[in-house]
Amino acid sequence: MKDLFGKALLDYQNGNYTEDIVTSTSISDEDKLPLPYLFRGFKGMPSLEQKALKLAKGSILDVGCGSGSHSLYLQKKGLKVKAIDISKGAIDVAKQRGIINAEKKNVLDETETFDTILLLMNGTGIFQELSQVSKYLSHLKSLLKTGGQVLIDSSDIKYMYEDEDGGFWMDTNSSYHGELDYFLSYKGERELPMKWLYLDFNTLRLACDTVELKCELILEGEHFDYLARLIPAKAGIL
Ligand SMILES: C[S@@+](CC[C@H](N)C(=O)[O-])C[C@H]1O[C@@H](n2cnc3c(N)ncnc32)[C@H](O)[C@@H]1O
Repeated sequence: MKDLFGKALLDYQNGNYTEDIVTSTSISDEDKLPLPYLFRGFKGMPSLEQKALKLAKGSILDVGCGSGSHSLYLQKKGLKVKAIDISKGAIDVAKQRGIINAEKKNVLDETETFDTILLLMNGTGIFQELSQVSKYLSHLKSLLKTGGQVLIDSSDIKYMYEDEDGGFWMDTNSSYHGELDYFLSYKGERELPMKWLYLDFNTLRLACDTVELKCELILEGEHFDYLARLIPAKAGIL
């Protein structure tokens, strides 16, 4: 990984903002990811993220924290937050913004336990592909303290396969429709291609069943997106 994402965050943080990140996927053309959005405050966040922040309690792990926007809000509210990301640039920025406990780390290498684990801005993306979902989910479950919760957002991107006549051009013999190849470039440099997973709620719920997590729909967004809460199934029995 060249860490162009981290480089872009560092540029913005250090006052060198001249252009945005350019993204594209295996099913969509180039699009801009505005850097200011990655530094959004509470008011600039989608309602799903605001809801997740309101539900966060106890000790919190912010997985894939980016520049640390969610962590910063929670830390300012007096909550104990740990922010992790695989991007060194992202962690440097999170620290510069004042996150006390920020660490460059893959979530699969995390071993501490938490009351709340946040995965936001298509939190299922880091699972990369459907075949890896249960591995990530059971690891996340192992990081929960008794009574703990995972708050995660994603979308059903089926609409991206809809043509102008309302028909769908999805190849039903190919892989799950939310599995995408994701391409990112910044200031003329290309990042190595990544896999990025969008999961519809029902598929997430079925995957949760396989690792004994109860998956609850908390809120639906405006565009096929949703926020879910995952809790160990046994703790979920009333
Ligand atoms: C879409 S960005 C979201 C950033 C931030 N949560 C936000 O909402 O602005 C996804 C982040 O996840 C990080 N990431 C990807 N895979 C990861 C992993 N396995 N463990 C930790 N972080 C990961 C990426 O480096 C990136 O910063």
